[in-house]
Amino acid sequence: MESQNLSQRGTWGSKAAFIFAATGSAIGLGNIWRFPMVVGENGGAVFVFVYILAVALIGFSVMLAELVIGRHAQKNPVGAIDSIKPRSPWKSIGYLGMITGIAILSYYAVLAGMLAGYFVKMISGAFRGNVTSQMTEQTFTDFSSNPFLVLFFFAVVLFITAYIISKGVKGGIERYTKVLMPILFVLIIFLAIRALTLPGAGEGIKFYLSPDFSKLNFKIVFFALGQAFFSLSLGMGTMITYGSYINKKDNLVSSAGWVSFSDTLIALLAGLIIFPTLFAIPGISPDSGPSLVFKVFPLIFSKLPGGQIFGMLFFLLLLVAAITSTISLLEVPVAYFVDERKWSRTKAAVLMGLCAALLGIPSALSWGGVKFLTKFEFWAKIDLIFGNIALAFGALLICLFVGWVWGVKKAIAEIKSGGKKFTIRHIWIFSIKYLSPIAILFILIKIIIG
Ligand code: TRP
Repeated sequence: MESQNLSQRGTWGSKAAFIFAATGSAIGLGNIWRFPMVVGENGGAVFVFVYILAVALIGFSVMLAELVIGRHAQKNPVGAIDSIKPRSPWKSIGYLGMITGIAILSYYAVLAGMLAGYFVKMISGAFRGNVTSQMTEQTFTDFSSNPFLVLFFFAVVLFITAYIISKGVKGGIERYTKVLMPILFVLIIFLAIRALTLPGAGEGIKFYLSPDFSKLNFKIVFFALGQAFFSLSLGMGTMITYGSYINKKDNLVSSAGWVSFSDTLIALLAGLIIFPTLFAIPGISPDSGPSLVFKVFPLIFSKLPGGQIFGMLFFLLLLVAAITSTISLLEVPVAYFVDERKWSRTKAAVLMGLCAALLGIPSALSWGGVKFLTKFEFWAKIDLIFGNIALAFGALLICLFVGWVWGVKKAIAEIKSGGKKFTIRHIWIFSIKYLSPIAILFILIKIIIG
């Protein structure tokens, strides 16, 4: 039964393939666009410190919990939870995740589209000659407030995402990530070295890495936690779904560890590019929000010989990293409709892609294209509700489900299957039963009641 199930649904070609796909999901705009943005808006180093704690103490445990549910049940989130606890309301975790996934995809694809636009800009030589911060600001404003361009690139990204998803998890995701992610990594290291050696980079390093704990407050903790879930692709079933394709022989603990580690490393490196550059070339404020990276990256390219080429390569690879993430967002509802409703992958991909497209239109127009949507900051509201609150709520439910409903004993048996060791199990049990749910609940209540 089990092997039949496996062969019908498809599994990753190897453990490495799963790692690449899961890291591909985790690493994306969350690391390179969203992380520097929230660091800049929340006081710099203090935020970074809380963020690292959130990943180590909560994010990693939740990731392992999601992977365990997925691999145990070998199903989409709704089906997985239903097979562990039949006909219980807990499977709403899966439905909530599907809605959250579509909502995040809707504005995420808008941003990914803008990167595609920047790639084209780089090719056409928009940032040639002496690049100043006024110039990068102007370029961004002109571009993002052009509704036709933004909608066009948004549609292209959604189309590519739905196309790859319709081809299936194995053929679709594995092939691209294997080669391109390592190149992105090398390029990021290279850019960080350049940024760190700019004259005047010191102030930026200080802002980014030397925490002033008197600035610590609840808002910082809330956004750090939300950012951890967002960046690790947690709280909406992505890792349940990806876990469902993992082979029984693979080690879940080291997989979760590797994905969390590499995701955090890339985010930290992105900050090492942005903040030194920002302080070395004055004119852009660290709290300039969502436009931050669009304004700062062209500056660092202008400080490199052959910067055009680096810029092109960078935006292209970042676009690929974004698409391996949009794929994982769309895969959750698609896996549900394929497993539970027997839809074809293509039908599910097209229909779910269309839902994201519709919801994404107001987000696309809230970057300057339409006045009242821009003033209302439509995309930022969706990001707050789904990218922070819904993910945290989903993660809370996953902790409660694994820690108290399914039970850590059964989860640990699954983790240990095939004779694997699980030496840090006591820490994990403590985190999943007590620390994570209590911390998340406390922070959510505090944020919602103010
Ligand atoms: N983690 C991705 C990033 O950092 C975005 C993402 C993909 C995501 N799948 C997710 C976020 C699921 C939350 C939940 O860019």
